[in-house]
Amino acid sequence: MIFELSRDNLALAQQEVLSLAKPKTWKLIGNLLICKANFDYSRLAYTNLVLEEIFIDTKIPKINWQKYYKENFCVRSNITAKEKELAPIIWYALKNPKVNMKAQSEFWFYYIEDQIICGKKIYQREEKFQMRRPDLRPGFFPISLKPKLARAIVNLSGVKKGTIWDPFCGTGGILLEASLMGLKAIGSDIDPMMIRAAKKNFEHYECKAKISIADARKEKVNCKAIVCDPPYGRRASTKKEDVETLYKEFLEHVYPFVDTVVLMAPNTIKIKTKYTIAWETEEFVHGSLTRRIIILNKSNQ
Ligand SMILES: C[S@@+](CC[C@H](N)C(=O)[O-])C[C@H]1O[C@@H](n2cnc3c(N)ncnc32)[C@H](O)[C@@H]1O
Repeated sequence: MIFELSRDNLALAQQEVLSLAKPKTWKLIGNLLICKANFDYSRLAYTNLVLEEIFIDTKIPKINWQKYYKENFCVRSNITAKEKELAPIIWYALKNPKVNMKAQSEFWFYYIEDQIICGKKIYQREEKFQMRRPDLRPGFFPISLKPKLARAIVNLSGVKKGTIWDPFCGTGGILLEASLMGLKAIGSDIDPMMIRAAKKNFEHYECKAKISIADARKEKVNCKAIVCDPPYGRRASTKKEDVETLYKEFLEHVYPFVDTVVLMAPNTIKIKTKYTIAWETEEFVHGSLTRRIIILNKSNQ
């Protein structure tokens, strides 16, 4: 498969696919990730297109285009000017060809470095994240992650079926995405006001999620993975506790019963834990906040 990744955050886009596809080998050419994969592509937040690979070469080889053609076709390219010269190559190789700009068979040609990467489109992202923007939700606090990022970090867990637990669920942004992907969503938060807001949001989007008031350092939930966005600063929401200590105590508590934790953390704190950092990237938020996005697992995984 060829995944055309969004350039908004290439490292995150790449890991989102790799966490779900778990391929033995893969390669990245520009913003195209090429690997074997078999999962529901509509889950992805940072992938624009998914294509079935036709060829990767330095020139266009002889191809049985008929094999890939259905009803009608069109040609797309990252270099628009190339489309006109590419279309006849396919046209003359087909029996009774029909062209349609909204075709069944959309052939993509990417010219990157000295390579031509060609594939047939099988999926295009249409997920309407903007409709679930935090400020449009009935239970709104400005602390919530944008839905696109929330969805991506759920995917980083690699969980395709089963329970996701967010022990710092706030207004429920992460759980909303998990539930919309068909996962079982369980949440808890120390602040009753947040739990009330999250309940309103789940009702509004008709999402099933189980939530309760609890301290993340004491609660136990049987889950496939934790995905969370704990507090970043020494604010009322942490009861004025030191965030570094909060992360440390929370990770110490969940280590015996949870194998995978995906979390966000400000890059100013040290993550002290027995878990292994399997992968991480950074995301600039604003002048005083750059956050790390981290996948933690146990070293034997
Ligand atoms: C950055 S917010 C999470 C935002 C959330 N992702 C959302 O969509 O709204 C962090 C949350 O952690 C909660 N929190 C702080 N200390 C906690 C603790 N010890 N246990 C559980 N929740 C805690 C706060 O009440 C706050 O809602």
